[in-house]
Amino acid sequence: MKISRLLIFCVFIFYLFSTSGCIFGQKTADPKTQNYQPFKIGLAMATLQEERWRRDRDYLKERIEQLGGELLVQNANNDQQKQLQQVEYLISQKIDLLIIVPHDLNEAASAAQMAKKAGIKVISYDRLIRNAAIDLYISFDNYKVGEFMAEYLVDKVPTGNYVIINGAPTDNNCYMFNQGYKNVLTPYLNDGKIKIIFEAWAEDWKPEAAYQYIQTLLLQGKKFDAVIAANDSLASAVIEALSEWRMAGKVMVVGHDADLSGCQRIVEGTQLMTVYKPIRKLAYQAADIAMALVANKDLKTNGPPIFNGKHFIKSEIINPIPINKDNMEIVIKDGFHRRDDIYMNVSPFGKKNNF
Ligand code: BGC
Repeated sequence: MKISRLLIFCVFIFYLFSTSGCIFGQKTADPKTQNYQPFKIGLAMATLQEERWRRDRDYLKERIEQLGGELLVQNANNDQQKQLQQVEYLISQKIDLLIIVPHDLNEAASAAQMAKKAGIKVISYDRLIRNAAIDLYISFDNYKVGEFMAEYLVDKVPTGNYVIINGAPTDNNCYMFNQGYKNVLTPYLNDGKIKIIFEAWAEDWKPEAAYQYIQTLLLQGKKFDAVIAANDSLASAVIEALSEWRMAGKVMVVGHDADLSGCQRIVEGTQLMTVYKPIRKLAYQAADIAMALVANKDLKTNGPPIFNGKHFIKSEIINPIPINKDNMEIVIKDGFHRRDDIYMNVSPFGKKNNF
């Protein structure tokens, strides 16, 4: 009696396992061989330079594999020609869908078109590709990212001289961040309360460029009270330059990405705030949508259609969260960083340790 129940239970479990992969993760069976092939997703990344992209890659892989797919990853190291070749390679590997983080907002259109021509669906991940018929754009609310940064800064420095270091001119996000800063700053600029004494762009998001801009301004004897650095890597370089002039913590600096070193600088007092973008949520959402697209399911997305210069693209948009020393708990609770890692250099009295 007991044995037969156990047998029925085993058969039931076997049935569950053998059918569950069919929901998303497996292509239809070849009737002759009954061999299931996992879906293949190609991920063409522009860069792994910043800490966040390694999380994107790992979470995408984790979720796609959970859903029974396979992820092939390429990294173009900020080289558009290389990205094109890598997309060519991914197509040759018979991927079912391409997730691309474009290096160049315009040039990447040819990579996307190449995939589309091969019958492969394309997701523009975190950065928008202009003028290409892509299937989905998934990102954070990048205007909001810029607005948060400027809001925290004007609250702390409502009058004075500002410097803005934008990211790469080839990255569509940078124009959105910039629009966000300007949305907030414009009334202050019009009133003459705030003056932008210098604004520049960092090619390929190179921190060296940000460092050089700040060094040059300081060497020229320019006085400024606040710096908007488009991400935490640039903020790090800005603060390094400031610290060489003993001005770290005196000039207010904001960044975004909630990099570990960014969070450490916030609790130490050399960076005012950052913006946390829940990368796991982005990657998991993108992976779920990718698998649904491959399975030709109807897509329900939460964002408005985005015009990319030629086409209206479906969008999925995730909210960013501003972080300063008072709500650091958010990134800890979310498992983004460990408390000990953030507060590593800070004594229980809030002062930087001198060791
Ligand atoms: C992303 C940022 C990242 C930057 C540099 C931007 O497109 O939104 O999170 O820091 O690229 O890679």
